[in-house]
Amino acid sequence: MKRVAILISGGGSNMLRLLDSMAGDHPARPVLVGSNDPAASGLAKAAAQGVPTVAIDHRAFASRTEFEAALLEPLLAAEPDIICLAGFMRILTPDFTRRFAGRMLNIHPSLLPKYPGLHTHARAIEAGDAEAGATVHEVTADLDAGPILGQARVPVLPGETPDTLAARVLVQEHRLYPEVLRRFAAGDRKPVLL
Ligand code: GAR
Repeated sequence: MKRVAILISGGGSNMLRLLDSMAGDHPARPVLVGSNDPAASGLAKAAAQGVPTVAIDHRAFASRTEFEAALLEPLLAAEPDIICLAGFMRILTPDFTRRFAGRMLNIHPSLLPKYPGLHTHARAIEAGDAEAGATVHEVTADLDAGPILGQARVPVLPGETPDTLAARVLVQEHRLYPEVLRRFAAGDRKPVLL
């Protein structure tokens, strides 16, 4: 049974889908939900599911390195085999990502390699793209650039706004991430295409 830690920064809707999925014959179980923001509403939702939670406020640290050192303590104590970033909005240093090479996943709201970084939906609409979507990938030192483990596509509709597109992509994120995690935890890294 693989042990999974999930890092969030906000509402944690993807995190909740991951928690829900890890039951029955699933090859993984959640061991920790962590956040860089004590006000992240997802923390209480995880706690309500009986999952241990921890908040390490990044604003309390003078540098990224010090924040990450503080985050590492509870994370390593939970002994995760896999770490899922699910709406975790802090950039991680290469030292941190290297430590979890090959076992840290992220979900990003674009069809990578298009639109790494922020404002992905606005950029897709602005570019006149016919399709948008989400990607789950392995986390490497380069932002939003690791090996792709799955993608879900949605059409960009006439009159689309970043918010309407984000909402439709999120529905697909909720299908994609649990499917990728299930396969990844079982040792299958073939990309999932939805
Ligand atoms: C999701 O759309 C996720 O893809 C995105 O944040 C949202 C979190 O929603 N992640 C990023 O932008 C990472 N750079 P959630 O908290 O409801 O899962």
